[in-house]
Amino acid sequence: MSLEATRLEERALEYAREAVELDKRGLRALAIAKYQKAVDAMVGLVNRYTDSPVRRTYLRKVREYRERINFLKGVRVGDVTSALTYAPTRPGAKEPGQAPTVGQREAQEEETSIRSYRSGVTWDDAVGMEQVKRIIQQAIVYPNMRPDLFPLGWPRGLLLYGPPGCGKTTLAAAVSTEIEGKFYAIDAASIMSKWLGEAEKNVASLFHQMRALALRGTPTILFIDEVDSLLGIRQQETGGEVRVRNQFLKEMDGLADKAQVKLHLHVIAATNKPWALDWGFIRRFQKRIHIPMPDHEMRVDLFKHFLRNVKLEQDTDYQILSKATENYTPSDVRDICQTAVIEVVTELFESGTASDRSTQPRLVGMRDLRDAIRRIRPSVSEEMRRVYDSWAERFKAV
Ligand SMILES: Nc1ncnc2c1ncn2[C@@H]1O[C@H](COP(=O)(O)OP(=O)(O)OP(=O)(O)O)[C@@H](O)[C@H]1O
Ligand SMILES: [Mg+2]
Repeated sequence: MSLEATRLEERALEYAREAVELDKRGLRALAIAKYQKAVDAMVGLVNRYTDSPVRRTYLRKVREYRERINFLKGVRVGDVTSALTYAPTRPGAKEPGQAPTVGQREAQEEETSIRSYRSGVTWDDAVGMEQVKRIIQQAIVYPNMRPDLFPLGWPRGLLLYGPPGCGKTTLAAAVSTEIEGKFYAIDAASIMSKWLGEAEKNVASLFHQMRALALRGTPTILFIDEVDSLLGIRQQETGGEVRVRNQFLKEMDGLADKAQVKLHLHVIAATNKPWALDWGFIRRFQKRIHIPMPDHEMRVDLFKHFLRNVKLEQDTDYQILSKATENYTPSDVRDICQTAVIEVVTELFESGTASDRSTQPRLVGMRDLRDAIRRIRPSVSEEMRRVYDSWAERFKAV
């Protein structure tokens, strides 16, 4: 392994260790964040070093951590019964509607990690983004309520793009909760690894299944997170990846087919590397939605949102907090609030009085929040921000 890989690996393991530790201590939000970092690092490793001998181990870990994250976030993994069965004639395969036995469930999960689910995240958890929420209403919610009012059909492909930590995944998670219907989420790691060698067949099969559901009148949404790693042009390409991409494009074309113009089947894809997508792919998404860095007003709302259950000093001034966080993402703002709260709580623990349940930490004040802002650097630079903005311009023009 290269030095870079070794470093990435060390970092991934460090995150994982920290996550498990936080998890044990019941620090849910912190554990989720660390698990996510471990997942990101491991996915990075897996994607970059496809021939690494430890690839399988990492993929298993990634799945484990993701499940843990979902569990910690309070996901109800419902609908196991609607799991997509990729080999319908497989002996002993369950019929839809029958709860699988544990053995069957494992066999299925080995086959594909795709299951319809609801995340428990709501529109209100996604601060701002009113314009995007409106587009989703227009493209998915209204047509589903009154298809008779949409003689020309509705857009099927939504591409969310923008800097990391600004709410793309959060938004999709909210869609899974808010939309009546089936919501499937896949990511590149699961497609390319678990379906190795058979990925394009499974893409075809997935769309086939989703179409069948949609034809029966169930609105069906496929969410592909980090779509760049699945379909990007800059990836080191093996034959398999090219085939997956072509199959995917073909399926997307199928969606645009006039005969199916009124099918309630939607594909939402998200990426923070829009430049890694090829135009053939981008073109197939009728709605391309930039999820930008938050502006002043939105940061005010984000601070209010993340501090809504925190006991604050009187002097809390959201305007000042927002002005001090010009290039910070929503995810950074969340980290700032969390850090400030943890610092204050830690004081209580260190004073030795925390075991007495009647003691309370002192109120969180501007000083605590300012300290946290100083400690947390913005995760998107001014320069990157400009790159995203210029991509937003280009995408509009396609
Ligand atoms: N608009 C938002 N409202 C509330 N919280 C947000 C928002 N955007 C991001 N967050 C917080 O930041 C975290 C990370 O955001 P999310 O995963 O949605 O970003 P993303 O745009 O998908 O980033 P990436 O491109 O890295 O995948 C979320 O778990 C949430 O806590
Ligand atoms: Mg995301």
